[in-house]
Amino acid sequence: MKASAPGKVILFGEHAVVYGRPALAVPVTQVHVDVEVLDSPRKGIFIHAPGIDLHAELNSLPPDHPIASVILKVLSSPNTSPHFLDEKMGGLRGVNISIASTIPVASGLGSGAAVSVALIRALSSFANKSLSDDEVNSLAYEIEKLHHGTPSGIDNSVITYNQPVYFIKGQPIETFKVGKPFTIVIGDTGISALTKESVGDVRRLWLRDSVNLETIFDEIGQISLIARRSIESGKPELLGELMDQNHALLQSLTVSSHELDNLVEAARNAGALGAKLSGGGRGGNMIALADPATAQSVAEGLMSAGAKRAIITEIA
Ligand code: MEV
Repeated sequence: MKASAPGKVILFGEHAVVYGRPALAVPVTQVHVDVEVLDSPRKGIFIHAPGIDLHAELNSLPPDHPIASVILKVLSSPNTSPHFLDEKMGGLRGVNISIASTIPVASGLGSGAAVSVALIRALSSFANKSLSDDEVNSLAYEIEKLHHGTPSGIDNSVITYNQPVYFIKGQPIETFKVGKPFTIVIGDTGISALTKESVGDVRRLWLRDSVNLETIFDEIGQISLIARRSIESGKPELLGELMDQNHALLQSLTVSSHELDNLVEAARNAGALGAKLSGGGRGGNMIALADPATAQSVAEGLMSAGAKRAIITEIA
């Protein structure tokens, strides 16, 4: 059984979304996770993830290992678990799981959530049980909680539904229409940074100075709202200025970094209409709005400024 899941970028609203403000995210299909689950003659569940140099039997991994925890969650679900048992084998049947990913780890492109979603889908169809998107999403959210404390749920949602989302924590998923397609360029600093850490640091700032932080979150939430209207009404050119404003607010939350600021600056100098970091920050990726004619020069500008990779993608 095979399943795939795309990466994602957050267009507006990261961090503030953890505190109940709206955020906008879109899937990025140029990067993805592909999972294949096959029967194995050997007893046990074997995981092969060459990208992270992982070749192991499930039982040899700690239960809180990101991949083991997804498999254990699916195995403990009453819907799917009976299908993984085999009396002749005296317990778990023999299963080989292969995971291939083109999404860089800890880069703000949703690699963790994409592995969860693709793995949940492949394992459940292997167990002859097709889960609804809502079921996949809530299982993936449980995994996000295990690994990063207080996730908003935006990553698992945009990746599960594979559609642009306007997301408010705890509320039903809303998708939004794109009035006129627009192009963004994604630039990778190549520096891995754990979302858990930047989210934890913002939490510490908030505990010290909640009045100031709440004001910043309100301003970010307002930007997400205006951005959604601009996208829906076919005026994506307005997003550039909003990206610049959102980036400045993220800087004041201390989640940018020298490398991110450098790429943001390089994108603007190469003709982007605006740019910001995307995701947890500190490292990982940034995004820039470019008109289709300048997207290539923006990508080149990012590479000459030290980006490890630049992806041009159209949001339609
Ligand atoms: C991570 O992609 C986005 C953050 O807002 C964290 C979250 O929403 O859970 C930084």
